[in-house]
Parts: sequence; structure tokens; C-alpha cells
Amino acid sequence: MISELQDIATRAHIDTIHPNALPWPEAFDDAERDFLSRLAFGEPGHEEKAVVYITKELAQLAEIEKHVTGVLSIVLSELQREPATGLNAGHTLHHALSCFAAEELHHANMFYLYVRLLSGRDFKYPENLYAQRVGLYQSDESPWVKLAALCCSAYIGESVITVFERRCRALDPEQRFFFTQLLVAHGLDEARHIKVDHFVFDHVIPALNSAEQRRMRQILHATEDLNTELAIRFAAYAKDFFSCDYTGGNRANEIQMQLTAAFRELVFGGEIIRKVDDAMNDEHRQLLAAFCSETRVHGAVA
Ligand SMILES: [Fe+2]
Ligand SMILES: [Fe+2]
Repeated sequence: MISELQDIATRAHIDTIHPNALPWPEAFDDAERDFLSRLAFGEPGHEEKAVVYITKELAQLAEIEKHVTGVLSIVLSELQREPATGLNAGHTLHHALSCFAAEELHHANMFYLYVRLLSGRDFKYPENLYAQRVGLYQSDESPWVKLAALCCSAYIGESVITVFERRCRALDPEQRFFFTQLLVAHGLDEARHIKVDHFVFDHVIPALNSAEQRRMRQILHATEDLNTELAIRFAAYAKDFFSCDYTGGNRANEIQMQLTAAFRELVFGGEIIRKVDDAMNDEHRQLLAAFCSETRVHGAVA
């Protein structure tokens, strides 16, 4: 079991791209904005709305990622007081979670760099509910319960952004556009995060007793409620900040909301926590295929 976790992190220094290593331009040209319009609206001509949409989404995702880093730091610190047996023996789990946490902070930085360059504005939402979202994890609860709740929550956003990465790859197979390069770079780390989430689903959650599983779900649902509230606030803030309603005709925005709701239901709507690809039905796969030309969310691109 430990060796499975060890394998996940083995190439973490190779299969990764530091934000500095991306080929940042001085400014984005019309071709990048045209690509974003096609990505979101399925056609050119909606560049301004597409820029506002992507700016809002990536800035919001950056806030979610910073929360993952914050909570994983709490979990890492609290695991030190747990018995050093099983999964908690040695340094393997500590290493895997430390890589995860550090990578998410790099992503938040990378996404904010992108949206500030793309929009030409210093876009950041001050009321990001950080204290409340981290507060859910500042309790006497077992760190195993906290780790399980966090991975379930992170998994939804990670699955949705993976679908968007796949749509970028389908529309831009040569990866000419910076946005594709950004999501592909992000996806190198995310592939490991998904493996850690799956590991937690397979080995950590089943080891929780029923009271712990109940508390895990309480923290998870409270996290998801605050993330939903964050998304609503971010949308209102972005529309006001840019004086632009990016939603009309924005197919990507609609599909993103559909996928988020569907993935939540598939992953934690039932008695046991399930992996998204195991839980999807043909209807979900058709929705996915129409959007990103793939019938799987995770795993190798066909
Ligand atoms: Fe990330
Ligand atoms: Fe991640």
C-alpha cells in the first residue's frame, strides 16, 4: 500500500513545470483571445466575454487551490501526533501530501499570473472566504477525516479542470496557444493529485469508522457549500469589475456547471465515495465526448 503512494511522487520533480518555465509573452495577441472565444462559445467573436470568463474561473480556482495548500498543511502537522504506523509510518505520506500542497500553491500563482496578463487588470477578489473555508478544518477532528474530506472536495474541481484541459487539447492539438500550455502544465501535477485522491478513496476512507465517515461528509458538504458560495460571489464580482456579463451563449460555462453538479452527485451522492469514471453512465460520457472528444475524465488520453 505504501509503495503505491511512493510511486505516485517518484517523478514529481520531472513531470512538472515551474511557473517561471512557461513561455510567458509580454502580452497576449488576438489569436489567444480568439482561441478562448472558440473554447468557451464554440465560435470567434466573443473575445471580451471569453477573457472575463476565463479570468473569473482561473482566479476562483486559484482560491480553491490555496485552500487545498492551507488544509494540507494542517493535516501534515496534525498527522505528526498520530501513531507512526500503517500509512503514517515513515515519510512517504508526508512527502506525497507535501508535494501536493506545494504544487497547488504554484498553480494558484500560475493562474493569477495568467489572468492578470490576459485581462490587463490586477483582478483579485478580496472576500474569498478563506478564513471560513480553512476554519472547517481547524477542529479537534482526526486528521484522517480532514484529509478524506479535503480530497473528496478537491477531486471535483480537479476533474472539471481536467475536462477543460482535454477540450483544449482537442481544439489545439499542437498546443500553440498559451492557455493550452498552461492547462497541460497544470495537468502534469494534477495527474498525481488525482492518484492521491483515488488512493485516499481506496485506503483512507474505508479505514474510517462510521462516525468518522459521517463527520467527513459534514466537513465535505460544508466545504462544497462554501465553494459554491465563493463561485456565486466570484461571478457577481467579475461581472461588476469588468462591466461584462460573460454568461449568455457561453457553452463552456453551462457545461462546467453541469459537470460540477454531475460529478458531485456521482462521487459522493451515494453510500460510498466513487471515482468519477467508475460512476459515469453513457449519458455522462456523451456529454463529455461532445465537449472534449473524450469519454473518460481521468487516465491516458485516447
Ligand atoms: Fe491545481
Ligand atoms: Fe490539484
